[in-house]
Amino acid sequence: MNFVLRIWRQKNANTPGRFETYPARDITPDMSFLELLDVVNEGLMARGEEPIAFDSDCREGICGMCSLVINGIPHGGHRGTTVCQLHMRKFRDGEAITVEPWRAKPFPVLKDLMVDRSAFDRIIQAGGFVTVSTGGVSDGNAVPISKPIADEAMDAATCIGCGACVAACKNASAMLFVAAKITHLGLLPQGKVERDRRALRMVQAMDQAGFGNCTVTGSCAAVCPKEIPLAVIARMNRDYAWALLKGEAG
Ligand code: SF4
Ligand code: FES
Repeated sequence: MNFVLRIWRQKNANTPGRFETYPARDITPDMSFLELLDVVNEGLMARGEEPIAFDSDCREGICGMCSLVINGIPHGGHRGTTVCQLHMRKFRDGEAITVEPWRAKPFPVLKDLMVDRSAFDRIIQAGGFVTVSTGGVSDGNAVPISKPIADEAMDAATCIGCGACVAACKNASAMLFVAAKITHLGLLPQGKVERDRRALRMVQAMDQAGFGNCTVTGSCAAVCPKEIPLAVIARMNRDYAWALLKGEAG
């Protein structure tokens, strides 16, 4: 397969970026999108040119590092699929493909297609954890959890922190991400102790980082590679409202 790639190149956060056009030839349909970029980079390096910077790690849909807007859609618009799991057979031979970084103020561009997502780390540091006294390994069944609750918590826990929800949102809202974490921890007995404090602190950290508010357009859930549902946002709003009502100290 052959493609024409329009790729965003930007030296750093303080330098304006621009699109550059690169041909990609003899690409096999079973290559992933990241492997396509590897091939383009090999060609650039062979010619002594600067390779395109992009993030990746696991390349199997579990780490959340890959972060490309492809033809205007974070992760390329294939349901439940990260960029690293997106294969070139999903594109038309000869297609022109536009590739950009996540676009959101709290995710400044580091270089080319790489953005700084440490704002997410700060939100997790604010409350995305449970505090436990460690000791001997407890019995696996010591704390019974019903199957529906375990399933719901596990579904929310599949959020990989990629940030596509923010990139898709016109308000650059991080609510789907934050709500997934709040839901995952708040549903389990171990996470209930800090539930109120967690909601207040994580929402505060989200606001401080400059993410926008949710206006329920649903674009976040539409692009989420882990198909986190909008319902988690309703749960987060409830937790947050209860914590405010109870006068919980953030
Ligand atoms: S909610 Fe979905 S899109 Fe947002 S960070 Fe988690 S996995 Fe990525
Ligand atoms: S590289 Fe890990 S999810 Fe894509």
